[in-house]
Amino acid sequence: MSTTPSRIEIPVDASRLPMTLPRLAEMKRLGEPIVMVTAYDYPSAIAAEKAGVDVVLVGDSGAMTVLGYDSTVPVELDEILMLAKATRRGLRSPFLIGDLPFGSYEISDEQAVATAMRFVKEAGCDAVKLEGGGEGSVARAKAICNAGIPVMGHVGLTPQTSTALGGYRAQGRTAEQAQKIRNEALALQQAGCFSLVFEAIPSDLAAEIMPSLTIPVIGIGAGPAVDGQVLVFHDLLGIREGLGARFVKRYANLLDEMVDGVGAFADDVRSRSFPAPEHGYTIDADELNVFRAGTEDGD
Ligand code: KIV
Repeated sequence: MSTTPSRIEIPVDASRLPMTLPRLAEMKRLGEPIVMVTAYDYPSAIAAEKAGVDVVLVGDSGAMTVLGYDSTVPVELDEILMLAKATRRGLRSPFLIGDLPFGSYEISDEQAVATAMRFVKEAGCDAVKLEGGGEGSVARAKAICNAGIPVMGHVGLTPQTSTALGGYRAQGRTAEQAQKIRNEALALQQAGCFSLVFEAIPSDLAAEIMPSLTIPVIGIGAGPAVDGQVLVFHDLLGIREGLGARFVKRYANLLDEMVDGVGAFADDVRSRSFPAPEHGYTIDADELNVFRAGTEDGD
């Protein structure tokens, strides 16, 4: 569905055709784990592309990881769109999903469809994601699907409305909450969502719900019974301070490496060991002499 040409130049590997909805459904059917990661810009997209992930989400988590907000609530639609456009330019194969930010879809079906269309037309996204499985979110998901744009739902911990959920904490730990999550998941599937995210719910609850779902479910803190896993780019690579939520596994400590690298540069500048001759440009001696003579003549 994406129309924006990708800028990335990597050898075309015939075995890595662009990811599609039928292929994602097939992966679920075959029990092949689906790998999803967030990305927010050109370099993170290139990392996802080259690592061969299946699905990339331009998450509204970018509000915190790259834009420095305290939560995902304040981020503007245009800010997330800018991140999505940069991400698109670094991707060729993964399926690209844009996350609808808080306030950009809740008011009406018309608002939701108009916002989703911007992600597709302006940023070249293949699909959008929205949070929540209540009546409003289900209606918005249905309206966007009816407009021809694939939708990923998101239940369990939904950070945009975490205040109403009692804070940034696991959901579905009482029978009543568990029933609510199950109903929401089924309603989103019924509304036409092609996939769901389960965030921060008990592994046993996810395992109980999975047999009722025919669409792929991607988990983040939902245990192993789901069809795939997603982590936030900055969490898995250690590009943020602190350990983050219990469900985060860290595969690198890039923030430490970044601080070390910038620190080494600062040391070199202060000790005048950078730049060295090999970092500079030369001018032919004759040209320099002509320049000097000209300068003496007052030119
Ligand atoms: O914004 C985000 O990064 C997300 C993932 C946690 C699924 O919604």
